[in-house]
Amino acid sequence: MSVDYTVQGQVAVLTLNNPPVNGLGLATRVALTNGLARALADEAVVAIVISGAGRAFSGGADITEFGSPKAFQEPNLLSVILAVEAATKPLIAAVHSVCMGGGLELALGCHYRIAAPGCQVALPEVKLGLLPGAGGTQRLPRVIGVEPALNMIVGGTPVKSEQLFALPGQKLFDKLVQSSESLLAEALAFAAEVANARPLPLVRQLPCSHPQGDGYFQFARNRVKGMAKHFPAPLKCVDAVQAATRHKFADGMAFERDTFLNLMWTPEHRALKHLFLAERAAPKVPDVPADTALRAIKSVAVVGAGTMGGGMAVAFLNAGLPVKLLEAQPEALARGVATIRQSYESQVKKGKLKPDKLEQRLSLLTTTLRYDDLHDADLVIEAVFEDMGVKEAVFRELDRVMKPGAILASNTSTLDLNHIAAMTQRPQDVVGLHFFSPANVMQLLEVVRGAQTATDVLTSVLALAKKIKKTAVVSGVCDGFIGNRMVEHYLRQAGFLLDEGCTPAQVDRAMETFGFAMGPFRMSDLSGNDIGWAVRKRRAVEKPGFKFSQTADLLCEQGRFGQKTGAGWYDYVPGKRDALPSAWVTQMIDAHRASLGLTPRKITDEEIVQRLVFALVNEGARILEDGIANKSSDIDIVYIYGYGFPVHRGGPMAYANEVGLFNVVAAMQRFAQNPLDDAAFWQPAALLQRLVLEGKTI
Ligand code: NAI
Repeated sequence: MSVDYTVQGQVAVLTLNNPPVNGLGLATRVALTNGLARALADEAVVAIVISGAGRAFSGGADITEFGSPKAFQEPNLLSVILAVEAATKPLIAAVHSVCMGGGLELALGCHYRIAAPGCQVALPEVKLGLLPGAGGTQRLPRVIGVEPALNMIVGGTPVKSEQLFALPGQKLFDKLVQSSESLLAEALAFAAEVANARPLPLVRQLPCSHPQGDGYFQFARNRVKGMAKHFPAPLKCVDAVQAATRHKFADGMAFERDTFLNLMWTPEHRALKHLFLAERAAPKVPDVPADTALRAIKSVAVVGAGTMGGGMAVAFLNAGLPVKLLEAQPEALARGVATIRQSYESQVKKGKLKPDKLEQRLSLLTTTLRYDDLHDADLVIEAVFEDMGVKEAVFRELDRVMKPGAILASNTSTLDLNHIAAMTQRPQDVVGLHFFSPANVMQLLEVVRGAQTATDVLTSVLALAKKIKKTAVVSGVCDGFIGNRMVEHYLRQAGFLLDEGCTPAQVDRAMETFGFAMGPFRMSDLSGNDIGWAVRKRRAVEKPGFKFSQTADLLCEQGRFGQKTGAGWYDYVPGKRDALPSAWVTQMIDAHRASLGLTPRKITDEEIVQRLVFALVNEGARILEDGIANKSSDIDIVYIYGYGFPVHRGGPMAYANEVGLFNVVAAMQRFAQNPLDDAAFWQPAALLQRLVLEGKTI
């Protein structure tokens, strides 16, 4: 049963019991309605308490029901709340731990609410591109005031029950009890107190206004517009709360419902829902049982204290894990430690870290120049130069010194993990942990599963990723893994566009208007053009004839590696990051084009976006065919968290579904006709062709 029914004295207790967070799916709604009817019919019952079992009162709607008829099936949440309001006996919501979304809306429909301290109260629907659709925008302003309510509805972030209880004049909570443990007893006592109270109070009958009236909402709209950017929901939240101040309750409810239903059909909501589910699905690996025992990771060693080693050390220290840092040379070690300290000091300066935390975190860091000192670490990650010879030597050493059962990881971004694992006598303990730079900031972690990586190694590093607040995606072994394998084709297209008539600024602008945090040329200037140069040199040997625009090589031959050298695709003023169009680059591209005998053509932003994004889609589909990624939503996660793909588009694969795979494949076939492009690459992946024939999505 998803709602437990008991009678204690003269009070019926309906306990939501639908783990993990008492989501209000159809079965729970039916059980709640039945429980309510039973309590109302029982003459011995004088009052009713609604509570939540386990670790929540209720986390709200069941997101997997969104977009399916189940979400609307009766009793839907609105009908449940109407039934609650219409109850002829006092109804008391007793909330603890988590009271969010539909859970809070249900509580707002009750006659009384009492709360345990520390309860996280929120209307987080905006984070899914929606607004609260069961009265939240109409009832919350009536109990805590328009401004606090709008802040909660637009922000979606939880506020603690005691903070809300402290708001002047609030009517959200009738009582704040001592603790979660005493909540039920106090709820029963409260129920006895109000058993005979009539008329029963209803939130809908409370007034709702703001002293500055519409002036306030104009101000709110201006603020929200800046934050909302590509998302319609935040402004709609303002509209809905304003409706609460302007209209009768029933009309405000109708407005909220209409707006909610309209938002449900937006691509932005679909994108955010997709990402929410994608994140939850990411750690699930099809052939790895969820109950695989974990190896404890209580201490970490990092080999190499450069850019990545330092960033990774900070990520572990922030999670309270002791880190031992190893370098080949004392100078490099001192430099690495100084950078870590500076990174913390700058956080303290910006007020992001309390000063006492700085020393606390650094006290977890120890250093060494000797491999033998790493012996005890549960996990060791190598972040030395991207050179197979150097990595081979490091892994032989790690194999010699590390205790049995320790996990041996490499942060390589391009090298063959299986070859690295073969340098040890324990390839089952070797895994790739591909962090993105800056490693303590970027949320993405590609976990690279070698041919022999043990399942418990995989699950243990996935659990560790969660601990250090990373979103981890599992990738098989291939050149570039998921993200860099795809980005190569994206960057190739950007190069071809220069040959055909674009400027770097035009391409960047088109991609940034589409929603990318940075266009491909600004991104390359930031990460360093020399990285791609090295890849192209390698490709020239491995895959002779593999096509690239030569402009990027011409750029690198001038030492224009990007921001770090003060010049790349753009010019940079020392100390600043503004990308300034470069006359030299324009001239170089024009001259190169002329040397190929090409006449520049006018290229639309639509073509730019399609060629770059569909290049990601085609390679993404091949990655799925090859079994490198387990599911297409993993690819979306990689691109959103690692490469600045626009969140409101849901990732490249989700975007392809939005556009329609038929259209995507047709565009690829068109691009294949362009003699300046790579016709072989644009053959649509077999997976895409099959899905089009079957009328399916990715
Ligand atoms: P880096 O050049 O900043 O740092 C490498 C460090 O390793 C240097 O401090 C060097 O002294 C040390 N080192 C070299 N040989 C060593 C040895 N035998 N024993 C101990 N220490 C040794 O390089 P970075 O950028 O930190 O890259 C490290 C690894 O991370 C590479 O495999 C790279 O492909 C990978 N990576 C780099 C990313 C980036 O954006 N920089 C992103 C993701 C992965």
